[in-house]
Amino acid sequence: MNTKKVLVSRIFPEVGTKMLKDAGFLITAWDKDRPMTQTELIEKAKDHDALYCSLTDTIDKTFLNECSHLDIISQFAVGFDNIDISEATRLGIPIGNTPDALNDATADIAFGLMIATARKMFYSHKTILKGNWGSFNPVGNLGMELKYKTLGIFGLGRIGMELAKRCKGAYDMKIIYHNRKPNPKGEQELDAKFMDFKSLLSQSDILSVHCSLNSQTIEIFNKSTFSQMKPTSIFINTARGLIHHETDLIEALKNGVIWGAGLDVTNPEPMLPDNPLLQMENVTVVPHIGSATIEARNEMARLAALNIIEFYNGKGVLNIVNPETLKR
Ligand code: DGY
Repeated sequence: MNTKKVLVSRIFPEVGTKMLKDAGFLITAWDKDRPMTQTELIEKAKDHDALYCSLTDTIDKTFLNECSHLDIISQFAVGFDNIDISEATRLGIPIGNTPDALNDATADIAFGLMIATARKMFYSHKTILKGNWGSFNPVGNLGMELKYKTLGIFGLGRIGMELAKRCKGAYDMKIIYHNRKPNPKGEQELDAKFMDFKSLLSQSDILSVHCSLNSQTIEIFNKSTFSQMKPTSIFINTARGLIHHETDLIEALKNGVIWGAGLDVTNPEPMLPDNPLLQMENVTVVPHIGSATIEARNEMARLAALNIIEFYNGKGVLNIVNPETLKR
């Protein structure tokens, strides 16, 4: 009989908690519609063997040292910038995550942001709400077409590949990318061309961010890098808000340094309602909903539970961020 106790830090899709219960785990599930404070999280985690958490939980040095007894932490997300991975690794705590589950959902949001921005959809919608739908204007509300444009991907991984497929299929776009290392699959299947960062900036019509947030990518899109982009270009970020410098982005848009922006993630998050980006014509903002489909969230819940179940069955962790902890 399994007597391991799992703390579930948010209200997640039921499929994951059901799997854990069916496998005999004792579950404590936080049932409030907000994340726990770190004090609450520490206090509860102290009495559990494993943690099933989300990117709204701060799993930093303080948490990890207070809860170094945890056997495993399984995060319901592909990103893990809320977790101090090197400290978890030092303490020997395996960290699981849920890659792949959200590739299509996130690529759809990036694709949607691109079209909505190019055609000023959110701004036009707001003019109706304000009662300003005047007569048909032959020279009003002009956006841009996407056919044959160049899509630049910063971080061509699984989500970037899905976006590139959509852009190639729908608009026969040329795909260029910059990565730490080349992506042969992208080059074979999509004729994607690898280039240095500067060339990516200067050649992209649409530049979409799909890298992880780390010390190399934090605020890498800033005044200097925006100034190297085309004045007709659109910047899309569905990865992490901290990858762009938001005040620099606002200035770049105001001054016509770039043409538009589509954001699923903002810096900081949540975005405040008085943020000037929300009033701009060529800007589309949605509140971090990249993975928010029934299919993706159920699969994330399943994978996060499976990481814990397989770990305790001695089968390793299906998706692990710090595999070195399992070798000890
Ligand atoms: C992730 O998984 O990292 C997304 O940002 C949220 O689902």
